[in-house]
This record gives sequence, C-alpha cells and structure tokens, in this order.
Amino acid sequence: MVCLGNICRSPLAEGVLKSKVDPSQVFVDSAGTAGYHVGNPPDERSIAVANKYGIDISAQKCRRFSKTDFRDFDYIYAMDKSNFSNIIKLANGKVDERKVKLLLDEVDLGLSEVPDPYYGGEDGFEKVYQMVDLACQVIAKRLN
Ligand code: 4NP
Repeated sequence: MVCLGNICRSPLAEGVLKSKVDPSQVFVDSAGTAGYHVGNPPDERSIAVANKYGIDISAQKCRRFSKTDFRDFDYIYAMDKSNFSNIIKLANGKVDERKVKLLLDEVDLGLSEVPDPYYGGEDGFEKVYQMVDLACQVIAKRLN
C-alpha cells in the first residue's frame, strides 16, 4: 500500500487489509513515495479512525518506497495517480510495472484516487477509511 507520506492513507490501507487476511499467508506492508516522515508513526487522525473500527495501526513506522519492493511484493497498490507514476518510475521492466495498480481500480466507486486527507478535517479520514475498506474487501476475498 503506497501513498505520498506513508502517514495517512497507506497506513490505514495496511491496517485494514491486514485485518482481513491470514497473516501467516499474506504479508502486507505500506510505504510512501516521499521521505518527509520516515520513522514516524501514522498521523493521529489515521490512528483514531482505525481505532474506531477496532484496528490498531499505532505501532507502524513510516518508510519510503524502494526499488527492492518490486522484488519483495506481488502487488503494489497506489493511492493516487501521482504516486502510481512515481512508483512506475522506479520499476525495472514490465514484470515490475504489472505489479502496480491503483487501489480504487479494485472497486466501482466512480472514483479512481483515494483523496489526500492530510490538510483537511477528520471527515476526510473517515471517507478514506470507507473507500480503503471496500477495496480491501475485494482484495482479501481474492487472496483468501
Ligand atoms: P499521505 O498524506 O500521503 O496519505 O500519508 C500526506 C501526508 C503528509 C504529507 C502529504 C500527504 N506532507 O506533505 O507532509
């Protein structure tokens, strides 16, 4: 799960998908395409909305997306088109490129990007949670 800062959207997506799969079978992680917050925990508003739905993401630590992620992961979900293209820039060939998808392409919400909630209010985090939850239901069903 990849967003820009790895403190708002992708930590939520990591926590939500983890809650829906068998951790002995599926390894889920998140990263950011930017390095502003490396080492930091998720934004407290993401921690709060996850908590509201019984998911604890407070122990996550921000890391930056790296080329080695193409080796380590089968699927790479970008939260928006800008992050999608930044991930694709690091790909080494078609096999890498084919791993990268927009998270919301998994669902038919009439929306292709998970909006960045960083500069908005708490309702933005609730909306992000709901979108991510629907997309992760579809992904988990396929993986389980
Ligand atoms: P995220 O949100 O990509 O969902 O983690 C952001 C977090 C921080 C910043 C931008 C977006 N920032 O500019 O610091």
